[in-house]
Amino acid sequence: MSDLSGARILVTGGAGFIGSHLVDALLAGGSESVAVVDTFFLGREENLGAARERHGDALTVYREDAGDLGAMTAVCQAERPDVAFNLATKALLYSFFHPVGAFQVNVSIATALAELLRSGALRRLVHLSTSEVYGSARQISMNEEHPLLAETSYAAGKAAADLLLMSYVNMYAIDVVTVRPFNNYGPRQNDGAFAAIVPLTIRRLLEGSPPVVEGDGLQTRDFIYVQDTVAAIVALATLDGVSGQTLNLGSGRETAINEVVETLCDITGYAGEIERAPARVADVRRHRADVGRAEGLLGPVAPTGLRDGLERTYAWHAAAVGA
Ligand SMILES: NC(=O)c1ccc[n+]([C@@H]2O[C@H](COP(=O)([O-])OP(=O)(O)OC[C@H]3O[C@@H](n4cnc5c(N)ncnc54)[C@H](O)[C@@H]3O)[C@@H](O)[C@H]2O)c1
Repeated sequence: MSDLSGARILVTGGAGFIGSHLVDALLAGGSESVAVVDTFFLGREENLGAARERHGDALTVYREDAGDLGAMTAVCQAERPDVAFNLATKALLYSFFHPVGAFQVNVSIATALAELLRSGALRRLVHLSTSEVYGSARQISMNEEHPLLAETSYAAGKAAADLLLMSYVNMYAIDVVTVRPFNNYGPRQNDGAFAAIVPLTIRRLLEGSPPVVEGDGLQTRDFIYVQDTVAAIVALATLDGVSGQTLNLGSGRETAINEVVETLCDITGYAGEIERAPARVADVRRHRADVGRAEGLLGPVAPTGLRDGLERTYAWHAAAVGA
């Protein structure tokens, strides 16, 4: 498949943060149809507002559980997708409140998709795993051979999902490529319950509250701008011969949480105090992706610099609240 123009696409979790940007990119790129399957656990209708406005006829939204094989079979019969992207999940922080649910949702969705691929109802899957499956870095940088040392049940569920899909590749030669994005940020990232550091800090700054850093702030992450992730997974979906591969997606740069918060303070002109809170349990200490494998296939995967991306993200949140 040379590109996704004219293709029929299924996106689980398409009303969420990364998923809605993916839907926008697919429709702007001329995909014939995009079907979103989302429970709206954290997904929002407004995330799909631009897609509906510009390409309404090509977008269908199913309020279904992507882990429900019966519902997904019906969706596939109606949509006949050429490619599926699996983005549905419940946020990492949810696992601290519902560890079993956080694990099971990742596994049940992967199970349903594996069965759809085995039966031929789906032909190709781009599965989004996460860098969280690696746990804290045992070596820097972290390539795809890094051991799976999940520190949360969310990450354990993702690791199990990855292994399940790989077992189906081995047993049934299904077509699956797995990506492990590192920390994404950008417009539309949830800033409410279970929010990550970038939207949480921006919300507090916009409310006039001091930002909060958990622990010493020296814990690091590898940040990638959401549209860079989307461009990479769309490109990957068009490549032949990648089934069974697992690819990291990140910037290859290690950034301390303190630096992210300080950069956002600088962008907004905030010079007040930064609140300190106890370190989070089961928090990954260091992350930096080795993106050599992805870049070997796709070229540079993270062209957006952190400050540039944070400026765009802040501008989006500020506009959303009319600031
Ligand atoms: N955001 C990141 O930094 C990051 C990093 C690495 C990997 N990922 C992965 O990327 C994907 C998208 O992440 P995101 O940040 O956009 O998350 P998100 O929470 O914004 O989106 C996930 C979507 O899945 C939906 N959902 C939850 N359970 C569902 C179910 N059973 N069936 C159908 N839909 C369901 C939610 O309502 C939501 O819209 C996830 O698979 C996540 O693990 C994200």
